[in-house]
Amino acid sequence: MNRGGEGERGSCSIGKGSSMRLPSGPGGLSNAVGGGIVLARYGISWKEQRRFALTTLRNFGMGKKSLEERVTEEAQFLCSEFKSQKDQFNPQFFINNAVANVICSIAFGDRFEYDDAKFQRLLRLFDAALKAESGILAQIINEIPFLAKIPWLIDRVMQPEYELIAFLKEMVSEHQKTWNPNYIRDFIDAYLVEMEKVKEDPSSSFNEANLLMTTYDLFGAGSETTNTTLRWALLYMILYPDVQSKVQEEIDQVIGSERQPTMGDVLQMPYTNAVIHEVQRCGDIIPLALPHMTYRDMEIKGYCIPKGTTVITNLSSVLKDQEIWEKPFQFYPKHFLDENGKFVKREAFIPFSAGRRACLGEQLARMELFLFFTTFLQQLTFEIPSDQPRPSEDPFYALTQTPGPYNIRVIARV
Ligand code: HEM
Ligand SMILES: *[C@@H]1O[C@H](CO)[C@@H](O)[C@H](O)[C@H]1NC(C)=O
Ligand SMILES: *[C@@H]1O[C@H](CO)[C@@H](O)[C@H](O)[C@H]1NC(C)=O
Repeated sequence: MNRGGEGERGSCSIGKGSSMRLPSGPGGLSNAVGGGIVLARYGISWKEQRRFALTTLRNFGMGKKSLEERVTEEAQFLCSEFKSQKDQFNPQFFINNAVANVICSIAFGDRFEYDDAKFQRLLRLFDAALKAESGILAQIINEIPFLAKIPWLIDRVMQPEYELIAFLKEMVSEHQKTWNPNYIRDFIDAYLVEMEKVKEDPSSSFNEANLLMTTYDLFGAGSETTNTTLRWALLYMILYPDVQSKVQEEIDQVIGSERQPTMGDVLQMPYTNAVIHEVQRCGDIIPLALPHMTYRDMEIKGYCIPKGTTVITNLSSVLKDQEIWEKPFQFYPKHFLDENGKFVKREAFIPFSAGRRACLGEQLARMELFLFFTTFLQQLTFEIPSDQPRPSEDPFYALTQTPGPYNIRVIARV
């Protein structure tokens, strides 16, 4: 797979994926749009924003709770929600809430109750932004670049995103009112510290526009991906009950039913770890990653790739490589186990992509997948409802690969 140089993100047009934005937006937002991390061009601003986000997530000593505690807390709430469903149900709505709430907890300092009006407004805006950007209008504009110059048309596509940015702006001003540099509650507070440090330096990338875009990027890049992977995980569990019971056996042995799972348990749980890896390999949720652009002329295997070329990497071609994987197109956790049942890392496991532009949230994502998944299976068994057909494993492809809608039934274990 060719990473196209050091990985400048193309000034790509809309409609290519979840967090795609127009390279230059109309009106007062034009500074903000195209900033942040996900769509930023390779350069100083991207570097500063990425480094800040990475260290802030890593040293999440903010406020009273660690990142792990926040994820664990949310996993418990989600499980209670599942348990309270007496009948069969589609898990998507609940998973959405929980995964978005983890980002809320990081960005805003606290989780929301699932029925909180503000929270539900945020989710609605987010969903509308996702749909508008990958919707038909966006795709037409993408095909016919001339249309991207018509302001009212762009406004129409971008409306949900503007509203989302306005929402984040409200949150930021609330933070500013109560901000105390000696007591950092969350990501926004930490960002305000950076802004304070460079307030005499107009060339710094730490400004309010970038604060909004970087926070937006955490939601954009961090919630749909995790939410889709968890839906694949539950789907595979109801389709492969023997795998599910083996995971449960391991949980019972290593964690038991009393205490909550922690990240420290991963090393003792090779089978569960292998299953989660296989969910990600098989689910293959972002087959073409995000578009990149070469920032200088490159030569790769004798081919010249001029500066400014858009390079698309095909992650599927690695995740499903027939020469590497024993059963590339099947859900087969043994891909990640040796003959003694030990976990094995595989070089071709690249759902987070590779190189300098690889996923910034990998650590958080792994934490969410492990803690959510083990909490689910510690407390519940998942089944296909008896009046439902066996759901299909074939993905729906719209830049991300998602499972089709399916219902589940849960049975409490403890
Ligand atoms: C299962 C969950 C996830 C998967 C499979 C995933 C996968 C990816 C992939 C494939 C890319 C593109 C890399 C490239 O173009 O080469 C990416 C980029 C990114 N991801 Fe994730 N991601 C996940 C979760 C998260 C989370 C939880 C966050 C943060 C809260 C996050 C933040 C980002 C950011 C900021 C980028 C852009 C990095 C840059 O351009 O420098 N992701 N992710
Ligand atoms: C979760 O995924 C679904 C389907 O892809 C999407 O409609 C929804 O907006 C996502 N929710 C969040 C919070 O990312
Ligand atoms: C990516 O690779 C897979 C497997 O090699 C192939 O089937 C698929 O068509 C490729 N996708 C694109 C867009 O070329």
